[in-house]
Amino acid sequence: MAELAYLNGTFLPLAQAMVSVEDRGFQFGDGVYEVVRTYGGRPFELHAHLERLAASAEAIRLSLPEGGLPLLAALVQEGTRRAEFPETKVYIQVTRGSAPRDHAFPPQGRSTLVMTFRHMRSLDPALKSQGVDVICMEDPRWARCDIKSLNLLGNVLARQRAIEAGAFEALFIRGGAVTEGSVSNVVAVRQGTLFTAPLGPAILAGVTRQRVLDLARKEGIPVRGEALTVSQLRSADEVFLTGTTIEVLPVVHVDGAPIGNGTPGPVTGLLARCFDSMTRA
Ligand code: PDD
Repeated sequence: MAELAYLNGTFLPLAQAMVSVEDRGFQFGDGVYEVVRTYGGRPFELHAHLERLAASAEAIRLSLPEGGLPLLAALVQEGTRRAEFPETKVYIQVTRGSAPRDHAFPPQGRSTLVMTFRHMRSLDPALKSQGVDVICMEDPRWARCDIKSLNLLGNVLARQRAIEAGAFEALFIRGGAVTEGSVSNVVAVRQGTLFTAPLGPAILAGVTRQRVLDLARKEGIPVRGEALTVSQLRSADEVFLTGTTIEVLPVVHVDGAPIGNGTPGPVTGLLARCFDSMTRA
């Protein structure tokens, strides 16, 4: 078991993987990424993650490396196999490559492909059983949050603000509506119905969000793609976050105010169990 990287054609120990200081990912955040995890050693929803990577790349006019998604899928499988962790967290990043610094695209260039393979440790079970606190803040990010781009400064500052406030996550507000978290999507339960911001430029189309909404529909729980205001969120019966590394995570306080009775609710519990069964299967 060893932390591993793949860089432009070669697997190597993570600590030895180096990219030029002229890489446009480093200079401009000019690239896109994905985070995939395994369950039982198998990458979860790999196809959905790679499709989203392709959509992000197309949106920024970035060509994926030759070989396209089939190559990327094979590399994810190969790296996971080589790293030999019980569960692996795979990071995939494609940038517009290395070129002398100039904002415009380089005339010819070869994209940089990086993957890292690390041990995926489960989230502290206490967070799942007790729930987490979140804060709300105005969304300082750009207009295309549906693109999973390397430009994460708004997300970085928001998560740091949450941590410094003693919270787990920061939820973004745009145009008066709660859209998503800095590293997660957010769902509220009101009178038995799930509410979550609709797909569009204000949120990342979370793979976990989609699976959880599908599970909810299967359980007969109505789902509405409608963003809530902060006050509607605060008065929701339940709130939870979804994401690759956090799965289904109950929220028990928003800006210090309890959600429901301040403990994880039954609908969240049901969906977390359904999600666990699906990933175990
Ligand atoms: N982030 N929204 C944002 C802004 C995110 O960064 C993420 C995940 C999600 C959830 O998406 P998914 O369910 O597909 O993981 C929503 C990853 C894990 C990260 O940046 O590390």
